[in-house]
Amino acid sequence: MTRTLITSAIPYINGIKHLGNLIGSQLPADLYARYARARGHEVMFICATDEHGTPAELAAAKAGKPVDEYCAEMWQVQKDLADGFRLSFDHFGRSSSAQNRRLTQHFAMKLDEAGLIEERSSRQVYSVADARFLPDRYIEGTCPNCGFEDARGDQCDNCTKQLDPTDLISPRSTISGSTELEERETKHLYLRQSLLKDRLDQWIDAQDGWPVLTTSIAKKWLHDGDGLQDRGITRDLDWGVPVARGDDPWPGMEGKVFYVWFDAPIEYIAGTAEWADANGKAEADWERWWRTDKGADDVRYVQFMGKDNVPFHTLSFPATLLGSGEPWKTVDYLKSFNYLNYDGGQFSTSRGRGVFMDQALDILPADYWRWWLLSHVPESSDTEFTWDNFQAGVNKDLADVLGNFVSRVTKFCRAKFGEVVPEGGTYGAQEQALIETLSTRLAAYQRHMDAIEIRKAASELRAIWVAGNEYLQEAAPWSTFKTDPEQAAAQVRLALNLIRFYAVLSAPFIPDAAAAMLAGMQTDDDRWPDDVPAALATLAPGHAFTVPEVLFAKITDDQRAEWEAQFAGTRD
Ligand code: 2FM
Ligand code: ZN
Repeated sequence: MTRTLITSAIPYINGIKHLGNLIGSQLPADLYARYARARGHEVMFICATDEHGTPAELAAAKAGKPVDEYCAEMWQVQKDLADGFRLSFDHFGRSSSAQNRRLTQHFAMKLDEAGLIEERSSRQVYSVADARFLPDRYIEGTCPNCGFEDARGDQCDNCTKQLDPTDLISPRSTISGSTELEERETKHLYLRQSLLKDRLDQWIDAQDGWPVLTTSIAKKWLHDGDGLQDRGITRDLDWGVPVARGDDPWPGMEGKVFYVWFDAPIEYIAGTAEWADANGKAEADWERWWRTDKGADDVRYVQFMGKDNVPFHTLSFPATLLGSGEPWKTVDYLKSFNYLNYDGGQFSTSRGRGVFMDQALDILPADYWRWWLLSHVPESSDTEFTWDNFQAGVNKDLADVLGNFVSRVTKFCRAKFGEVVPEGGTYGAQEQALIETLSTRLAAYQRHMDAIEIRKAASELRAIWVAGNEYLQEAAPWSTFKTDPEQAAAQVRLALNLIRFYAVLSAPFIPDAAAAMLAGMQTDDDRWPDDVPAALATLAPGHAFTVPEVLFAKITDDQRAEWEAQFAGTRD
């Protein structure tokens, strides 16, 4: 059996995520996980909250709560929203878990044994007004690479360059806004990534068919300027994984923690260990996903993330894994995304701009969002959410095409034959032509899903729905019924089977509607259709069904206008 390990970038704990975050990793990862399971793969799908570092500390301070309490509460909020969007994680972990602490300290020890850690005394930015060092997001300023004015101390969100606080031009404290900053001496551990440059370069070259977006970002930071830089992997912060060498203390590093970007990707592994612990499994049960000496050599590992995360996953995290000298599984395919923009600007957590996951579910069920977001996923360039476009996509694809098909077929059958699959008649040329179209399109749909080409897959699925509608329009069982009720019975039988067929193919995109369609057809046979004619004969004559409730309501112009106004401002 094919074994597929899937991880989604783990969202920061600092608040509810917006739809741009959702479509940038978790939702496409879920689509692929559902598809892989439907195709019979053994799947391990892991996500978690990213709880350390300055984002967590800053958000907790703003909420006036102790950071551990804040994280525990926000984890539950994010977990409930993930459930609301039907994200089918095998485990939704926490980077603050004991498992991650242990593994992070273990990797640091192994990297040190391999000679890849160096203690360096360096000058770091110290804020006199705040009486503390200002790592990462505690400091903002102008990016020396692209001139973006709100670059953070650890990375520029505009050009993705990894930065050090001392690189910033016109820096300011994010705590107090103070510009009274000076450099002071402090000791930190550095990961000597520069020693791994050639290995990483070869490792990236050895990857097959990665998206250009992924490899170009990796290559850029490997070769541009001075090439791959050593990175400080510890911080002067209270909250995080305490710096330790395995189980032993690390002399001179007391009171310091690992950098959030050092421990966050390790949480992919730790999250799988959390899964094992939560389900009464043994260590070997998670190791078989991650240790190539313990069974993971036949695992295919696929990662999902936004483009800003790519440097950390193509350089820093592989440096940790390869540098450890242990046989850890590295990523086989890295799917990265551009940004989804909101109505002429950016989605923004700090500015509260756009639609956030809780707000989205307050106004419409998950499937409406899942379909629109996935069918407009920013794969080859940034894309934009507008209410017009959202209304058009939902109304056309979901209500007019899929929903309408289901309702027309089931209602017509109930009226003429009752709520059972009708008997009689045979499939003629029209039906054969439809079956042929569906077979060709199904093969294309599978190809796109296998290649994680999501937009292409969505348009193929839409075309599969359209083919059913066109068939119904041409076959017109309501006319056939007047002259040849037997033939009308065959047409309706095929159309009812198509509803089940659609449910199975559409489930990765719209799982709730798919479940409602199967429930309406009174079947739990959700086997993937390997053979279209056989799949369309699954519901036999005499099989009872019920007419499902309206699957998708249209978004009215009034609703659209109301939401547009409601979400025009910012949320606090
Ligand atoms: O950009 C982000 O939201 C980060 N929290 C992603 C971390 S992914 C990983 F490495 F764990
Ligand atoms: Zn920049």
